[in-house]
Amino acid sequence: MLMNAPRGTKDILPDGIGQWLYLEQKIREICGCYGYKEIRTPLFEHTELFQRGIGDTTDVVEKEMYTFTDRGGRSITLRPENTAAAVRAYLQNKLYAGTALTKLFYIGSMFRYDRPQAGRYREFHQFGVEALGEMNPAVDAEIIILAVRFLESLGLKDLSLSLNSVGCPQCRPVYRQRLQEFFKDKLSGLCEDCQSRYDRNPMRILDCKHEQCQQLSIGAPEITDCLCDECRDHFSRVQEYLRTAGISFQLDPRLVRGLDYYTKTAFEVKYAPLGAQSAVAGGGRYDGLVEEIGGSPTPAVGFAVGLERVLLALEQQQLLPALPDAVDVFVVALGENVQTAAFQLLMAMRSAGLSAQMDFAGRSMKAQMKQANKANARFVVILGEDEVREQAATLRNMQTSEQEKVTMKEIINKLCAEVKG
Ligand code: HAM
Repeated sequence: MLMNAPRGTKDILPDGIGQWLYLEQKIREICGCYGYKEIRTPLFEHTELFQRGIGDTTDVVEKEMYTFTDRGGRSITLRPENTAAAVRAYLQNKLYAGTALTKLFYIGSMFRYDRPQAGRYREFHQFGVEALGEMNPAVDAEIIILAVRFLESLGLKDLSLSLNSVGCPQCRPVYRQRLQEFFKDKLSGLCEDCQSRYDRNPMRILDCKHEQCQQLSIGAPEITDCLCDECRDHFSRVQEYLRTAGISFQLDPRLVRGLDYYTKTAFEVKYAPLGAQSAVAGGGRYDGLVEEIGGSPTPAVGFAVGLERVLLALEQQQLLPALPDAVDVFVVALGENVQTAAFQLLMAMRSAGLSAQMDFAGRSMKAQMKQANKANARFVVILGEDEVREQAATLRNMQTSEQEKVTMKEIINKLCAEVKG
């Protein structure tokens, strides 16, 4: 029986890899400009890292983690996101040493057991950025600008940026209490999840997708009315920086992120044509996370972009560049006795840095030429028994159809000159 990949996962096939390389190149370009350095962390971590980091009342930790016990009896989880792991790596490897601000970026697979649909997968890829060590609102702005400019650099237009402040451990309890008062006599009308959120994390009720919960939360108090002076000042300075940079945004006092570590700034970038899964990027400040994971208090801010969603958006808008898959030269070998000479020539071409292919099945001239066309070869080198005897080959330019006989000695230099200009 044929087996399929698990639900919610996808193969990235040779034809599709160019799009990913294109995205990765754009990511590396912009991160270079903004001074962020790449980090690669393991695909799995100790479960406790995410429980402590993301918060055990979040949907991600409660319902969506791929957790298993390994053969050594440890509880292991496939990373559902990479902020907690980046912070773990930052502390473990003392990336704070000798610098006030550590700027990291990553590209990689994340895993969430969610209901798959267009734009939502169980294995998906994020490009994320984390800036650790600085509380200046200019860094919040830098991060947000980086997210927006990255998406714009791909040609995406009509992005919408929503911005909020979710307060800090000083002012959030006040808001929490106000929310609980607001929902007290509406409790029985809320969905089961929200009823349990009421005690544990009432802000998440505002984010519930159930129609009746959304109805019941109309008129709920807004966090921005409860911010302490420091959070309010920070929030207005972030906005000032964004205005200075010409970034437009909407304030959304109901924006609560699905992960518990956020403090102060929270933001999301949406691309509306994607419909239900329109959030292409999300992030914010998380000043308590480093301490939560065992470090000394360290302010930090970051975001992650969902790359599958970006690719969907680029496809919809026909913004993916055509990436022709071409080969410099295809060696056509005619007859059994030339196979060894053709193979030698093929290897010499590759050693010279040319991309070269040949047919190993000893097919007819016509079949091999067809293959050369399919491979989009710029040149074909034809090698028959006569040519091998004469230490020569026929070189055909596939664009102009011109052909000439070239000696074995000069063929590689000639090809290099043609191909590399
Ligand atoms: P997040 O909002 O959970 O934040 O995820 C960021 C982005 O990843 C989303 O906006 C979305 O584009 C994409 N994404 C999330 N889940 C899925 C899924 N199941 N399938 C496809 N795409 C998905 C974080 O993960 C935070 N770590 C971001 C952050 C970094 N905050 C601070 N630093």
